[in-house]
Amino acid sequence: MTPTQASKVFADRIGRIEVSATMAVTAEAAKLRAQGANLVDFGAGEPHFPTPRHIKDAAIAAIEANFTRYTVVPGIPDVRKAIVERHACDFGSDYGIDEVVFTTGGKLALFNTIQILVDHGDEVILPVPYWVSFKDIIQYAGGKVVLLHTEEAENFRITADAIERAITPKTKAIILNSPSNPAGSVVTAEDLERIIKLAHDRGIYLLLDECYVYLNYAAKPVSGGSYTWAKEHLVILGSLSKTYSMTGWRAGYALASRQVTANLSKLQSQSTSNTASMVQKAAIAALSGSQQCVTEFRAEFIELRDYMLAKLATIPGITCTRPEGAFYVYPNLSAFIDPSGKGGRPRNTLELGSRLLHEAHVVTVPGEAFGTDAHIRLSYPVTRENIDEGVRRIGDFLDKLRG
Ligand SMILES: Cc1ncc(COP(=O)(O)O)c(C=O)c1O
Repeated sequence: MTPTQASKVFADRIGRIEVSATMAVTAEAAKLRAQGANLVDFGAGEPHFPTPRHIKDAAIAAIEANFTRYTVVPGIPDVRKAIVERHACDFGSDYGIDEVVFTTGGKLALFNTIQILVDHGDEVILPVPYWVSFKDIIQYAGGKVVLLHTEEAENFRITADAIERAITPKTKAIILNSPSNPAGSVVTAEDLERIIKLAHDRGIYLLLDECYVYLNYAAKPVSGGSYTWAKEHLVILGSLSKTYSMTGWRAGYALASRQVTANLSKLQSQSTSNTASMVQKAAIAALSGSQQCVTEFRAEFIELRDYMLAKLATIPGITCTRPEGAFYVYPNLSAFIDPSGKGGRPRNTLELGSRLLHEAHVVTVPGEAFGTDAHIRLSYPVTRENIDEGVRRIGDFLDKLRG
């Protein structure tokens, strides 16, 4: 089928999005692995720890007790209670159990929120670099992505002033992801408060992707949910994936006003319905049980961040901001890229990522996927031996491009 014929078959909206770049990298790496390649994988955006025992046990017990049927769409009351209580305890938020929807991963909470809020032509402000899915999800809904550039010298940190300048009468929503994927930047508490006030005063929805909220290295985790007076226009998008090392379980949530959660439930009732029943029980164990694992994971990520940065610093020509959270570094490799391909250099980060994969056997995600043209993302939840070996391979590969 030619592309023209395909466009007649498929709806316009599917043509507006791309396959998630991180998923595409994973698929390409899997092909090489199947051919026997020994890859160092800095691509996957997930913790390397097993899911803690007490969480697995709760799911196993649920299955054994035949807790395997449909549940109500937004999740059983106990899981919603566990979410709002955890959030209230950690951040002083004030959500009731009808102000939360438990979703099949944080990505679905985001997808559905955009679907219920954004119409054709609505503008959504998105800071760059952005997590790959934000842009496509907005475009799928017909929204217009308004990219907001940040300064590398400022650790890619977004400010309230920059957001204020980007607001127009068509702005429907603002997306904020702090700590961020891919650069690990954290919005300051002052800016967060100002952005929340701005959104509140202008009646703009502020979508706070707090998937890495517990992986804030610098300080006590901060959530927009603490600003209880701003609830009407806030949507907190949460995920258990990174916090509890549960990426495969698909457990996320949205905390928002009743009008928003009622519409999220309505949409979910016509698609996935409830999240898997045993996953709801596992989530209760994660959220209500000991939070020691969260503290331990965070401490290990901080050490790995420092280890990774120290190794990268040994490669001349690479510069890298210091992530303040999440678990990625976002080094700048502009010294090794040449748009004309001079000296056999990659023309852009897509080519660089592909060559690192095929020639150096290191999996990375190219910066183009996150809206910048000089970076690659390296995910560091791996062993120190992997960091040693992966950075050595990157260094050797880059050495060949010098001169
Ligand atoms: C910024 C951000 N938001 C949301 C998600 C979605 O996480 P999940 O769907 O696994 O809950 C991810 C996953 O990588 C992410 O990086």
